[in-house]
Amino acid sequence: MTGGSFSRVGVVGLGTMGAGIAEVLARGGLAVVGVEIDQGALDRGRGHLERSTGRAVKRGKLTEDAQREILGRVALSTDFADLGDCDLVIEAVPERLDLKRTVFAQLDRVCRDDAVLATNTSSLSVTDIAVTTGRPTKIVGVHFFNPAPVMKLVEIIGTVLTEPGAAARVADLVKGLGKTPVTIGDRAGFVANRLLFGYLNQAAGMLESGHATRDDIDAAMKTGAGLPMGPFTLMDLIGLDTCLEVLDAIYAESRDRRHAASPVLRELVTAGLLGRKTGRGFYAHDNSSGDEEKAAGAAPVVGIVGVGPLADAIAALCDRAGSEVRDSAAGLAGCDLIVEAAEGAEAARALLSAAVQAAKPGTVIAVTSVDGSVIEQAMATGRPSDVVGLHLPDPAAGTLAEIATTVATDPDIADRAVGLVARLGLGVVRCRDRAGFIVDALRFPYLNDAAAMLGAGYADADSIDAAMTLGCGYPTGPIADLDRLGPDRAVTVLRALHAETREPALAPAPLLVEHVTAGKPLR
Ligand code: CAA
Repeated sequence: MTGGSFSRVGVVGLGTMGAGIAEVLARGGLAVVGVEIDQGALDRGRGHLERSTGRAVKRGKLTEDAQREILGRVALSTDFADLGDCDLVIEAVPERLDLKRTVFAQLDRVCRDDAVLATNTSSLSVTDIAVTTGRPTKIVGVHFFNPAPVMKLVEIIGTVLTEPGAAARVADLVKGLGKTPVTIGDRAGFVANRLLFGYLNQAAGMLESGHATRDDIDAAMKTGAGLPMGPFTLMDLIGLDTCLEVLDAIYAESRDRRHAASPVLRELVTAGLLGRKTGRGFYAHDNSSGDEEKAAGAAPVVGIVGVGPLADAIAALCDRAGSEVRDSAAGLAGCDLIVEAAEGAEAARALLSAAVQAAKPGTVIAVTSVDGSVIEQAMATGRPSDVVGLHLPDPAAGTLAEIATTVATDPDIADRAVGLVARLGLGVVRCRDRAGFIVDALRFPYLNDAAAMLGAGYADADSIDAAMTLGCGYPTGPIADLDRLGPDRAVTVLRALHAETREPALAPAPLLVEHVTAGKPLR
């Protein structure tokens, strides 16, 4: 038994999250009482438990005997009275305050006075729930992540009313279950959702505005930023109704337009297209999609103009792909693709106009500015129809290239650019000429939010990084990312994004600017 001071735990609501939580508790050896509203919902809950543990049996991770034991520890009921002898009850019903308050009123009546009552709310105020009970000192938030059996993070939320012992006991329980608790105060979205949902909603906004396609945005974030899933795949996993509820709740507190749910999300929810659980959301779940474009064909001849780390990185990619690289004016004439990789806008412009003179018509000219100024460089060449933007979000990894087209780019040149860059062995995604293209436009505002959260003292660097790595499977946390990518680069990209959108929350967080000025990493 791994429950510390808890031995019998109730779970109210056996949807995706509640069933996952019940499974985690039962796997930890605890006696679990699962309660649902009616027999139909209870049967669906049993189905979730059987499927999830059955999948582990199929993969050889669990024996059939162990599965039987786990399922045998979960008593299922439609009667709240069966929760009467639990030491802890975790509520996981849909995210409606009125519904949660009704459930807590019932729990208050049937549970022992010393029982701790927890809510798995994603974003509602735990305090709002606590004040309507007769035991506000014993109310905590215990926020698991989807899929609960897999994700290691659990946010433990204590309100100003919670007795410290209650939150600490729940944190001990969570540790005993092999998860990592992060204990924080009661703010909308807590740590992980507050950082995650601005990003998810911005991705939906990108789709809405036609900046890039669903598949390209997903591929960009998966391949270019190393995330386990792209934003649309993840929203479909979370459930679009939940996404909408979380965004509405965060917006109500933040009043930050970036949390005002994108219309496409609201439309899908109204249409009942809620993601994986209904078979369709941003994706139809019988289709496989989301992979970046790849192309076969001979390695292109690439001209590189300019010197510096970017030029070196592109030359290394060409080398890996067996592409011939040319950098003399005479050599540029026979290139399929010419990449400007100069350091600084003035140098880029001068080198580019010389290169364009040398290039034969129809050669793809790629410029590497990522601040929404591809069109300016394109116009300066005198051949704007041949020009695209090229950005490697992680040049060292050499996995993904973003190709931005302007209103002046010839569609055939855009297609050729995609094909040629793909032949360098890179995944390729397309977007319009806007600051940050896809990856930087999505990751730097998220990193800025993390710096702002750190600056505001809501959570420390370890908790913020743990929230994103253990809660959302990110390879590294945002504070570590800022130090890796460079606070100075973050400030530069954020200033470009802010200049383009005038979105107040995109102005670099004061803490970030301070670290740049001090020349000191965040950690
Ligand atoms: N239930 C149980 N186990 C599952 C599972 C599920 N639904 N889905 C995957 N798994 C397990 C698999 O059994 C597998 O384990 P083993 O290797 O031990 O067999 C492991 O997870 C990996 O699964 P897959 O190989 O099938 O797939 P994957 O490598 O693509 O990983 C993933 C799937 C773990 C979900 C991964 O893509 C990931 O981490 N995605 C990010 C998920 C995320 O961000 N979650 C948080 C959402 S926000 C939230 O939940 C908070 C909120 O309030 C809304």
